[in-house]
Amino acid sequence: MSTMLCLPPETTIIRSMRTLVVYYSLTGNTRKVAEALADALQGELSEIKCDRYRRGILGYFRAGFDGARGNLPTIDIPPTKSDVYDLIVVGAPIWTGIPAVPICSYLTERGKQFKNVGLFLTHGGRSLPARAFERMEALLPNPAVAKFSVMTEDVRRDRFGDALQSFVATITAKQAA
Ligand SMILES: Cc1cc2nc3c(=O)[nH]c(=O)nc-3n(C[C@H](O)[C@H](O)[C@H](O)COP(=O)(O)O)c2cc1C
Repeated sequence: MSTMLCLPPETTIIRSMRTLVVYYSLTGNTRKVAEALADALQGELSEIKCDRYRRGILGYFRAGFDGARGNLPTIDIPPTKSDVYDLIVVGAPIWTGIPAVPICSYLTERGKQFKNVGLFLTHGGRSLPARAFERMEALLPNPAVAKFSVMTEDVRRDRFGDALQSFVATITAKQAA
């Protein structure tokens, strides 16, 4: 992973937390951020899969159509026991202004069980991440403890270290409080 991240001094807090980073990614950007985040938080990674969407124009059309309609697809969730984690971080790309629908499926199925959640989004710069975060938080019992978004271009150029570090710092500060 090429993104350099200096861990904050409260590294022991991070070590004592059990963290799960759950994400969906169609073209790899969200995966790249999720991997860096799991590394920084010393957490485990879990990728949501969804056969309904593929790379290529037809797959994007279907993804865009379902996003616009709010259709919730069937997803594959790796067998993880979410109740053993202190923090669950959920990441998604933005599709048609909202979180990619596989993550909407995931949060609809599981979100109400999650007490301590961080959120992140990747996007092409054409949408307001605040609106997409609202959608995610509507499926959770509590507001997210921290969140950040990164534009696709910045993911590709490895320019998301600062956003990631500030997210980790917020999490550790809240954990320490
Ligand atoms: C079907 C589809 C719809 C998208 N809709 C938006 C959008 O509404 N606003 C935006 O800023 N980017 C949009 N994007 C761009 C993605 O959010 C962006 O490229 C993201 O980083 C992709 O993440 P991934 O590589 O993890 O799949 C869309 C991409 C796809 C494939």
